[in-house]
Amino acid sequence: MKILAIESSCDETAAAVATRLGKQRVSILANVVSSQIDAHKLYGGVVPEVAARLHLEKIIPVIDRALREAKCNRKNIGAIAVTEEPGLLPSLLVGQSAARALALAWKKSLIKVNHLHGHIYSVFIAQNAKQSVPQFPALALVVSGGHTGFWLIRDFGWERLIGQTLDDAVGESFDKVAQLLGLSYPGGPAVSKAAENGNPRAYNFPRPMIQSGDFNFSFSGLKTAVLTALTPNPSPLRDEGSFSLPTKWGGQGRGDLAASFQQAVVDTLHSKLAQALLKYPVRSVILAGGVAANPAIRWALRSLCREKKVKFYVPELKYCGDNAAMIAAACLLRLRRDSAGKPLPPPDKEGD
Ligand code: KG4
Ligand code: ZN
Repeated sequence: MKILAIESSCDETAAAVATRLGKQRVSILANVVSSQIDAHKLYGGVVPEVAARLHLEKIIPVIDRALREAKCNRKNIGAIAVTEEPGLLPSLLVGQSAARALALAWKKSLIKVNHLHGHIYSVFIAQNAKQSVPQFPALALVVSGGHTGFWLIRDFGWERLIGQTLDDAVGESFDKVAQLLGLSYPGGPAVSKAAENGNPRAYNFPRPMIQSGDFNFSFSGLKTAVLTALTPNPSPLRDEGSFSLPTKWGGQGRGDLAASFQQAVVDTLHSKLAQALLKYPVRSVILAGGVAANPAIRWALRSLCREKKVKFYVPELKYCGDNAAMIAAACLLRLRRDSAGKPLPPPDKEGD
């Protein structure tokens, strides 16, 4: 069965057509993403109203293009998957309205998918014939602009959140630090690039909550530590909104701050994963979400897994950021059917 998937939870309008490849993989026939980055760059972050308007403009052309690229029409599509939550409500509503309208008009099942399940299952998208896929039980670290969470996965459809950020998400902290350093939105790639020429030991930023004994995170203090390093004697009268990097912090200073901040994030994720592997002796580790594109984080967590003899999986770069292919993957891999062959979403199993 081919499915059409739609994703519009934040600032990417996306549609994909996909089908299952055996029991454990998903083949993508079309993957169309229309990014709104240029519009939000002007404001240094995503403006929900602007995002919703742009989704409205793009949603039909994007779906249309995905169907054409997959050489599909309503007859070949068995069901429609759409991101249910989490995300920006005005943005989510655009994708959900389009999906509901198509499902009604075409008489297809509508399957709602959790965005974070989408990120997790993005590693099951087939890249080549030889590729292996994660074996369960697995631990998934989902690091994105809106979320940071650890998941234990025992089977397709059995996912349990075992820890999450108590404040900022990792990607959000990259975005905020980028603003402080005068770098453009989205901050992750910009900070990562600036860090290439910096000294990761120039500043000793905190490694938040690494001794908390649980799998939660907190990244807002790290951002404040970067702000404090920039302004040794901050004035209570200074307008934070008009803050800009003093010229003396350009060049090497910026690189050192970016590298030291990134190292603090890397060390925090590394430490938490090492602790999680002690408690949960899993067969695979999955790193997913927009921040999974970060080379330093990938490298550090891959090395840890090699050391612990656990298989490590990250999505291809094009499936790290938001896309509808991952929504299709989560839908297809978690899908069950009723006695008439009609697709049913899996119940979330309780207990161990
Ligand atoms: O998964 P995603 O596209 O959207 C959400 O679901 O939130 O993640 C976007 C986040 C942004 O905060 C962006 O700055 C971050 O991923 N990001 C990165 C990198 N590329 C994107 N963070 C660190 N390093 C990168 N190379
Ligand atoms: Zn996302």
